Amino acid sequence: MRFSTRAVHLGIRPAENHLPVSMPIFQSSTFEWEDMEHEPDPIYTRYGNPTRYGLEQLLASLEGGRHALCTSTGMGAVATAFSILKAGDHIVCTRDVYGGTANYLKKALAPLGVEHTFCDMTHPNNLCAALKPNTKMVWLETPSNPILQITDIRRCAQIAKEAGAVVGADNTFASPYFQNPLSLGVDVVMHSTTKYINGHNDVVGGVLIWNDDKFTEPFHLFTKVAGCTPGPFDCWLILRGARTLELRMKRHQESAMKIAAWLSSHRNVRKVFYPGLPSHPGHEIAKAQMSGFSGMVSFELENADAASQAVKKMRLFAFAASLGGISSLVGYPAKMSHAMLSQEERNEMGATDGLLRLSIGLEDPDDLIADLDEAL
Ligand SMILES: Cc1ncc(COP(=O)(O)O)c(C=O)c1O
Repeated sequence: MRFSTRAVHLGIRPAENHLPVSMPIFQSSTFEWEDMEHEPDPIYTRYGNPTRYGLEQLLASLEGGRHALCTSTGMGAVATAFSILKAGDHIVCTRDVYGGTANYLKKALAPLGVEHTFCDMTHPNNLCAALKPNTKMVWLETPSNPILQITDIRRCAQIAKEAGAVVGADNTFASPYFQNPLSLGVDVVMHSTTKYINGHNDVVGGVLIWNDDKFTEPFHLFTKVAGCTPGPFDCWLILRGARTLELRMKRHQESAMKIAAWLSSHRNVRKVFYPGLPSHPGHEIAKAQMSGFSGMVSFELENADAASQAVKKMRLFAFAASLGGISSLVGYPAKMSHAMLSQEERNEMGATDGLLRLSIGLEDPDDLIADLDEAL
């Protein structure tokens, strides 16, 4: 072989006796067929990739499900879950859902003839009232975004199932360490792996996890044809982050509890939203269905100006969208996660102009409290 042929063909295959202790990054867009009779798996990285399969195996296990499918973003996972809806179908969705999910229902699915109703699911009776003969899906998010409301998953899943609807749950805020909705009757669990599962604010990704084989073909088909699957390097980053999920979640929650209690006694804070506080209206349900309360704390100041002043003074909390990483972030839902909603819609769900949302990182909680003290 001459120089250019050797340059192109050598050094591709690892020796067979290599046994890596970390999942390699299979940075290959396509995979060779042995012959026409034997289709390889994977064929092509949009369809599947060994690094992605490793991540899917891990996340299915951590969430207690049989199947997992990773997507390029959390919204890719939401779109994949909703892809089983067709014109004439109806979905009932948690009212204070992630703004992007609400927007997908309004801007992408409603024009195609998929109807939706937003519903305050903290009272399961509201769900009963929102169901229609054509309700095909019920979408839960608990703890919810941004005011951390708690939905009784088991009760709502039961009501939805009796009506013949598929039940999906966005479990991003709890992470699979603190809550496993499949064990409470949910059919499909969704995560933005961008958040706690990766945990390092350096990648975007999503995943769906389910048990019933009937979802396997439609979900795989959608991600293949829509092309919302992740690349191998992103999967590897998420896989690496997920290895330390338990350690990080324990610390996030411990610090969040301390900070929520501190905020509750601050004179400039009107309201604190944290399901770990006994004063939270969903505390008892959270205690029953979660093994911990996670690391998100929202709180309300007097108005937008007070929120803006506080954010400017914070040094350890970066003012940025997203959550679930090792470093603390402060978000302003009115201009970030829920900016696409009208002010009226935001007020209705509790994302008022004075609301700030903290993602408590892994810093020393006393340093974080000192930073908040200075800012407030
Ligand atoms: C609860 C929740 N669900 C879904 C998403 C969407 O995830 P992604 O940004 O990875 O598309 C987010 C993102 O902030 C979220 O907070």
